[in-house]
Amino acid sequence: MTTLAIHNGRVIDPAQGRDGIADVVIVDGRIARVGPNEGDMVVEAERIDATGLIVTPGFIDLHTHLREPGFEYKETIATGTRAAARGGYTTVCAMPNTQPPLDSRAAVESVLREAEHSACVRVLPIGCITRGRAGRELAPAGELAMAGVVALSDDGDAVADPSLMRHALEYSTQFLLPVAQHCEDPQLVRDGQMHEGWVATRLGLRGRPASAEEIFVARDIALAEMSGAHLHICHVSTAGSVALIAAARARGTHVTAEVTPHHLTLTHEEVAFADDYRHLRYNTNAKVNPPLREEGDLAALAAALRDGVIDAVATDHAPHAAMDKEIEFDLAAPGLTMLETAFGLCMRLVHDGQLTLPTLIERMTIGPVRAWGLDRRPGLEGLGTLAPGALGDVAILDPHAEWTVDPATFASKGRNTLLAGRRLRGRVIATIYGGRLVYETERVVAL
Ligand code: DOR
Repeated sequence: MTTLAIHNGRVIDPAQGRDGIADVVIVDGRIARVGPNEGDMVVEAERIDATGLIVTPGFIDLHTHLREPGFEYKETIATGTRAAARGGYTTVCAMPNTQPPLDSRAAVESVLREAEHSACVRVLPIGCITRGRAGRELAPAGELAMAGVVALSDDGDAVADPSLMRHALEYSTQFLLPVAQHCEDPQLVRDGQMHEGWVATRLGLRGRPASAEEIFVARDIALAEMSGAHLHICHVSTAGSVALIAAARARGTHVTAEVTPHHLTLTHEEVAFADDYRHLRYNTNAKVNPPLREEGDLAALAAALRDGVIDAVATDHAPHAAMDKEIEFDLAAPGLTMLETAFGLCMRLVHDGQLTLPTLIERMTIGPVRAWGLDRRPGLEGLGTLAPGALGDVAILDPHAEWTVDPATFASKGRNTLLAGRRLRGRVIATIYGGRLVYETERVVAL
């Protein structure tokens, strides 16, 4: 029997409505007891002092690009899950835009097998909506469901054909799988490089208008209403999308949504920066789809996250190699490495009073679990909570610790961050997966 006792932290477990000083005792990989001084009762335990720290369920990411198989030069399941652990994540849902894409039972099984071998946290694969992500015919959803996917998505691209999307939604209801759509109308964003706004005009880059996202959000909500299916909107980025989702939810439509740390906190102005000679330069690390938007959008996204119109923070961790980014802007790959900075970046909203800490924790733990019903799956009961009997997945956090982001220290192979050299306030101190420490900083004090 292995026992781990985490002493005297402020335990925030939104699923249980718990917020107070307590000990968390994990026995044989499962939460055994949570309460004041519970740790003192156990003998022969490994002990961690969490005095002055926050203890929460391990974070759950609905949107991670692990790149394996096919793009191991960008990331692997081993490096991506180590990055997850450093970010406080104990469960990541892996997007299927790999090579081959996860559109068959064999491809999904290969990811699960590799994860068993090399992952240090839980990997839940997502299957493709369409075969080869080509947007022409449906992938075999039944086969994918049997292989264990937790959702369907062609993320990176939208399913553009409305008839195909309708059938994907209808079909998904048989397998209780959410259909997670990357909402951007490919015709409206064609050749677009960044948000359509004044920065794009200054830089002479073709824009991706907010309406390209909103048209697809509106269309897919209508299709979800027609089919009664579960539509999930990936990486919501505009105030207009928030309004559409809020109205649909008020009507009782089964639509859930996620927002990324970068869309919550960074604007399109990140794309341009002035060099030593005050010439405007382009920063390809700010290239992401959908693009970074404007202040008004950021405020609407934060309010929607606070009010529960958006269910979850999801990282859209999209690692790319230097050769994918250190090239002309219109050739650069879109996406940001995010797992290791997600908590610190989101903490900006807590420090500036837009979100409470328990609400942020909710949206990174039980929020995503409930959005996709992940805890209904065999073996995942109790995911996202610290209730007795639940999985022993825990994050230990210091909401006040300041640190400077140094991509050279990332576990991820991706160094494509906008935050290099910037200060963040809020740091992951340790991550425990199945009762085992999978990440710890020098601040972890064993008692
Ligand atoms: O910027 C992005 N990068 N957006 C996506 O939807 C896909 C992702 C990637 O796979 O690199």
